[in-house]
Amino acid sequence: MNLDEIKELVRLGRPPDRFGDRRLARVYSVADLARLARRRLPAGVLGYLEGGGEGEVTLRRNLAAFEEIELQPRVLRDVSAIDTATTVLGTPLAHPFALAPIGSARLFHHEGELASARAAARARVAFTLSSSGTYSIERVASESDGPLWYQLYVWKDRGLCADLVERARSAGYRALVVTVDTTLRSKRERELRAGITLPTPALSLASVLDGALHPGWSWHFLTSEAIRFANLAPLGSPPAAGMNAMARSFEGLTTWDDLAWIRDAWDGPLAVKGILSPEDAVLAADIGADAVVVSNHGGRQLDHVPAAVAALPSVVEAVGARVEVLVDGGIRRGSDVLVALALGARACLLGRAHVYGLAAAGEAGVSAAVEILADELRIAMGLCGVSRVADVDASYVADRRGTAAGAGAQPPPEPT
Ligand SMILES: Cc1cc2nc3c(=O)[nH]c(=O)nc-3n(C[C@H](O)[C@H](O)[C@H](O)COP(=O)(O)O)c2cc1C
Repeated sequence: MNLDEIKELVRLGRPPDRFGDRRLARVYSVADLARLARRRLPAGVLGYLEGGGEGEVTLRRNLAAFEEIELQPRVLRDVSAIDTATTVLGTPLAHPFALAPIGSARLFHHEGELASARAAARARVAFTLSSSGTYSIERVASESDGPLWYQLYVWKDRGLCADLVERARSAGYRALVVTVDTTLRSKRERELRAGITLPTPALSLASVLDGALHPGWSWHFLTSEAIRFANLAPLGSPPAAGMNAMARSFEGLTTWDDLAWIRDAWDGPLAVKGILSPEDAVLAADIGADAVVVSNHGGRQLDHVPAAVAALPSVVEAVGARVEVLVDGGIRRGSDVLVALALGARACLLGRAHVYGLAAAGEAGVSAAVEILADELRIAMGLCGVSRVADVDASYVADRRGTAAGAGAQPPPEPT
């Protein structure tokens, strides 16, 4: 046997290039993407991605809560044609999920938001561009022919809000997602320990060594243009303007009056992200929001609050008949999405699940994350005996007490 024949045998023995990228050949789950991301990212950036507020109790709860909730399958029903399509905030989607807003996305991959928006468009799910995005509102729109939503922080500075809202409107973004759980910036100890600065990591002996251990990431970091908050530059010259604008969003000054003003300034569909109490959900609905996103910011803001999926049923009960209820936090499996739908969510936002894909392999990685979750959802629906998203209801969850789960449960680690 010669060398070429041996090479051919090795090639045949390899799994086919799943998702069109060799790096993803052995990826079958979001956990597999997370493993690749952990290898590729420097420790500081990984701390920014995976960390949470203070003791990370809520971060762990978000994952643990899903483990405690049981699906209740029905059998011997015709599930030969399963359809995961739905409409959210007036946007038809192929699956009941959208990519969550993620700040400083170029830290994870040099194509950052462009890669995620393109992958979302291909999968026909929505992409949400963060206020602290690292590509401009207009550039993302020019690279995506899919549904785009824009996430706005509530600044007291109405000129800044008006400018961003106007840019999102003229660039064709279909919905505004206003994040309300960041009135102060939380204490994130993984970031503090790693000394990470956003959006551009500061150079220090530790960060240079960290970079040297991750040459693939460092090469792109050093050869791409400097990372900045691309949409906050109108406030002055970057990067200082962007940093100041972000700092000013954490001054604790904003109130429901500011949300009411934003409601008036934006005439399209509006979602309020970061709701955990039914009372606040009612206030948001009263102000004229079209949706609330039950979210604890992925466990990154106030610690010790409930898992998002645990807070979901009471919010659905309070406002489910008036507005759409979305949820995010801890979603890593298609069956998690099914649980959320069964508890009354219209759709889920995917946070770290898609960022693991972005960090692992850019656009192909985000596509892989979405495809895996969509496929898992399809299988879970079929095995539960339900063919359409609109037919998923509370009868498919066995233990609604699971909504209080996680509090005493031994938290699982982030899937490995
Ligand atoms: C690295 C990172 C950056 C984030 N940036 C933003 C942001 O700019 N705006 C926002 O509303 N939420 C932001 N979030 C929160 C997500 O939109 C989402 O609520 C959260 O990730 C959901 O939890 P999960 O990651 O467990 O899915 C960020 C989350 C992560 C992990």
